[in-house]
Amino acid sequence: MSALKIAIIGATGAVGTELIKLIEHSQIPVLRLRLIASSRSAGRQIKFRGTSWPVDVIENTSDAAFDIAFFSAGGAISLKWAPRFGAKGALVIDNSNAFRMNSEVPLIVPQVNANTLASRPNRGIVANPNCSTIQLVRALRPLAQAFAIRQIVLTTYQAASGGGLRGIDELLTGARGVLDRTCEPTSERFPVSLAFNVIPHVGELSGDGVTLEERKLVQESRKILGMPELKLTATCVRVPVINGHSEAVYIEFSDCVPLNKARELLAREPGIQLYDGASCRAYPTPRLLENAGDVHVGRIRANPDDGRGLWMWVVANNLQVGAALNAIQIAELAITNRLLGEQ
Ligand code: A2P
Repeated sequence: MSALKIAIIGATGAVGTELIKLIEHSQIPVLRLRLIASSRSAGRQIKFRGTSWPVDVIENTSDAAFDIAFFSAGGAISLKWAPRFGAKGALVIDNSNAFRMNSEVPLIVPQVNANTLASRPNRGIVANPNCSTIQLVRALRPLAQAFAIRQIVLTTYQAASGGGLRGIDELLTGARGVLDRTCEPTSERFPVSLAFNVIPHVGELSGDGVTLEERKLVQESRKILGMPELKLTATCVRVPVINGHSEAVYIEFSDCVPLNKARELLAREPGIQLYDGASCRAYPTPRLLENAGDVHVGRIRANPDDGRGLWMWVVANNLQVGAALNAIQIAELAITNRLLGEQ
């Protein structure tokens, strides 16, 4: 395969930085790398495979064509620019919320619904799901395939990195301010200050009391799992963790499901690390995750009052599994299936 022209929009952000690192260590052959950020970062140089590449603004790309363009600079930039990149032949892998529920745009988690990339999408755009959705559907897949699910109820515990580099900064500065008693923590990136706090509000809160993050989790899970009627309800919570989202997931099946069978299915699922309640690794925690590309599942237990109910604790690196790695796995899928413009 010939080397590729790749653009990364949002290259200096939390996800963009992970993307560059992961592509650098992947087998993806790169001919040219175009790194795009806001005018604040224009002129910066970023090292990639031994060469320094300059950061530029997106307006300077209007005459360039790419094989793959990764967008991770927010919905407004994606809405305006992703179709233009797609029209010029790029496969756009968009990490924003802009196109995820568009019926012409595949929403892909390669471990779950790789088949939906079977042909090149009409508009050249593939959507990368929301971080909390990706780890959830990867853990649900083997169970949903084996057993009928009546409903799912979950709570998320989402890290500051979901709010980008500025989110991480706000948490760290706020925590230092509280510890040193020098200043009250600020809250620009989050609805209230996150340091030493827990915020049951991720994304816009709408009139019906549901947040955007909760709505995304429901709609995207249904689309990816191909279960439009799936009953799923969530409370999404921001917690003062730097990176790594956790989820407490309660699944109510239509019939009783033997616990050992559920464990066996999860243990066999590629990319899932199962934690056995009996060992010293009884459960995963976001700060101590070792394999950043896996989804970590522990505390699997039956509801003692209802044999149809099962709990699990699902943790993943939201910047990798929940964003950059999933995007790269989509790109690798497209390369393998020869779905890029000139292949
Ligand atoms: P910059 O670093 O110059 O602000 P995060 O999610 O970590 O906040 O990162 C957001 C990414 O989107 C950053 O790389 C940021 O660049 C980039 N970005 C923000 N505004 C624009 C814009 N108008 N055009 C291109 N990239 C942008």
